[in-house]
Amino acid sequence: MRFEREVGESLTYQFAQAAAEMRAQGREIISLGLGEPDFTTPEYVTEATIEAMRGGFTHYSATQGLPELRGLIAEDCNRRFGSQYAPNEVIVTPGIKSAVYFALAALLEPNDEVILISPYYVSYPAMVKLAEPTAKIVNVTLKRDFTLDIRALEQAFSVHTKAILVNSPNNPTGMVLSQAEVSHIVELARKYDAYIVADEVYEKLIYNDAGFVSFAAQAQARDRLIVCNGFSKSHAMTGWRLGYAIGVREIIGKMNKLQQHINTNTCTFVQKGACAIYRHEPDHIGPYVAELERRIAYFHEAVNALPYMKGVRPQAGFFYFVDISATGADSNAFCADLLRKTGIASTPGIAFGPEWNDHVRFSFAVPMATLERATALLQGYRYGEDA
Ligand SMILES: Cc1ncc(COP(=O)(O)O)c(C=O)c1O
Repeated sequence: MRFEREVGESLTYQFAQAAAEMRAQGREIISLGLGEPDFTTPEYVTEATIEAMRGGFTHYSATQGLPELRGLIAEDCNRRFGSQYAPNEVIVTPGIKSAVYFALAALLEPNDEVILISPYYVSYPAMVKLAEPTAKIVNVTLKRDFTLDIRALEQAFSVHTKAILVNSPNNPTGMVLSQAEVSHIVELARKYDAYIVADEVYEKLIYNDAGFVSFAAQAQARDRLIVCNGFSKSHAMTGWRLGYAIGVREIIGKMNKLQQHINTNTCTFVQKGACAIYRHEPDHIGPYVAELERRIAYFHEAVNALPYMKGVRPQAGFFYFVDISATGADSNAFCADLLRKTGIASTPGIAFGPEWNDHVRFSFAVPMATLERATALLQGYRYGEDA
């Protein structure tokens, strides 16, 4: 594997780092680059975790995860999506990223093909290459309105396809796959005998009129599905490093072998504390989603009133993927210029796929006042004209 080419530093972090350096020099920085929920982890999770530490959950756990937590995860999935998973079809991992990576590492053989839907989550190509250096990535590019091009999807499948990696609701577009789109993916995966790895990390941050369709609810996908999820975005637990995968027993078993050799287990008291999530109604999520909707309604209108930006309103999550083609700039140059002149940190579209070099991603997981400040600065900004 050519490490430097396949596994470069994540562009999202590169710009965040540049912004942090400017802030250290005293510049006002408006950070719309990295995205994580801007609320605090619910107190009941923190309390239960402290109790778990005091109660001795400070040793190794079963590598696949605490049976109690795996049972709760399976039960929750079955109740919400009508599936029939058993606790031994669940593995608990340090974050959702680990779940996705282990799923790929468990599935891929030399020269297998993996389908990615572009724009994709920044780390997916590197994960595929780390999992299997000879794997071939086949991109299916979304249409400009971020809907799935079914013909392009069909053309991407071949007898060599081992898996399709799907992320709905999506980072960076904020779009949710429709039932018809999900059904097409399942149908093609069946036809070509491929696995579906579904990253559903944003499934709780769905706005009013968008219906979320989980792959876990598709009975036809049962024998070829690994769903990855966790609490990073729904319970503001990005720093806890906790995620899980649920799916085909044989693949979960292989993922467990990888975990045995790499992590041993996910932090034991974090797993025990997370059981509290299932004893509480997630009351904080409704108000947070309403707040996200309020912010994006404002920001969407403000951005589309600018002569140089155009956005499709997201249906979920806290990212806004905006078309900047009217500036004629490539996304890296645009983000660097915007940061230098206004102090607004964003993420270049090229980080999400080569076809998106005329887009940038903004996070709106920031207070409304920050978005208002960003809007005022964007109104005074012109690409290429020196301030
Ligand atoms: C699509 C997607 N998957 C996974 C992750 C990472 O999740 P975790 O922090 O639990 O590893 C993110 C975070 O931005 C994401 O956007």
